[in-house]
Amino acid sequence: MKITVVGAGKYGSTTVQRIAEKGFADEVVMTDIVEGLPQGLALDMNQSRPIERFTTRVVGTNDYGDTAGSDLVIVTAGKPRKPGMSRMDLLSDNAQIVGGVAKEVASSSPDAVVIVVSNPLDEMTALFQRVSGFPPERVMGQAGMLDTARFADKVAERLGVSPLAVDAITLGSHGDTMVPVPSKVTVDGKPLAELLPDDEVEELVQATRDGGAEVVALLKTGSAYYAPSSAAARMAEAIARDEGAVMPVCAWVTGQYGIADVYLGVPARLGRAGVQEVVELDLTGSELANLRAAAEAVRTKQADIDSLI
Ligand code: NAI
Ligand code: 2OP
Repeated sequence: MKITVVGAGKYGSTTVQRIAEKGFADEVVMTDIVEGLPQGLALDMNQSRPIERFTTRVVGTNDYGDTAGSDLVIVTAGKPRKPGMSRMDLLSDNAQIVGGVAKEVASSSPDAVVIVVSNPLDEMTALFQRVSGFPPERVMGQAGMLDTARFADKVAERLGVSPLAVDAITLGSHGDTMVPVPSKVTVDGKPLAELLPDDEVEELVQATRDGGAEVVALLKTGSAYYAPSSAAARMAEAIARDEGAVMPVCAWVTGQYGIADVYLGVPARLGRAGVQEVVELDLTGSELANLRAAAEAVRTKQADIDSLI
């Protein structure tokens, strides 16, 4: 399994490290437009191998030739947010970057499965698919795994329980119309509604929506990357190992939940071919309405993509 990570910044380099240490890829190639950056990071990571006990080879490059024939490509190239910026403020700059990357990936790794993480996520995923011409099931975005982990961790912190006791899921967009799904949250198997009153659940839902901005405001330069890279690496693992595991990802929806022809955060089964299936959960009436509202919000923005490329 050959994996390429485009962009050797905070998100890209941490993702490479996590994938290399997990050991499910033979080779991880990291590429960036900054000369020396991916090469230096790769050298440093490879020298951790005798201590961390992994054998994955990390290659740093500025040349797409070295990425040729990748089975999986993760796109992290782009600008991150600064305090006060929304993800949508990145739209025009990152559209140019992600559009350029999509052309390079389409010619160097025409059979790859692609995970996009550059923001604004839902729009950049749609743009990558449009520019690459890849079938939609081979292009997905990472957001739901991160937003789910944030939701679960906030529930655990509020209740003072282990983060491993919480099962949660977050759907919708990676933005204002994010849809954390309280009816599906359990803590050691017990429904969240039995453990917290509605107003406290709603506070956790809103805190999850604001989770990215909360980190940006504290860091002041750049955005989160530890939890985001865990999210992308877990998706990569499910694809590499052909697991068929179901996880929330930004996927092309074709009628599920009464929604069609849009990239949206939904539960999807992942394997070597990409998205094998979009899975329909039983949602409450208001959760379903929120998911449909998210679809319409991102549909409008995704429809503008042609004007950006
Ligand atoms: P960063 O600034 O640390 O790294 C970005 C890297 O992209 C830089 O090294 C830059 O040189 C590189 N780059 C720019 N243009 C390029 C091109 N054409 N080809 C190859 N590399 C190129 O930013 P960071 O923190 O790594 O974030 C990357 C992106 O991920 C941002 O757009 C950010 O908003 C997004 N993000 C998405 C999340 C999600 O859940 N989907 C979560 C966190 C960040
Ligand atoms: C995050 O949610 C900024 O999308 C990035 O942390």
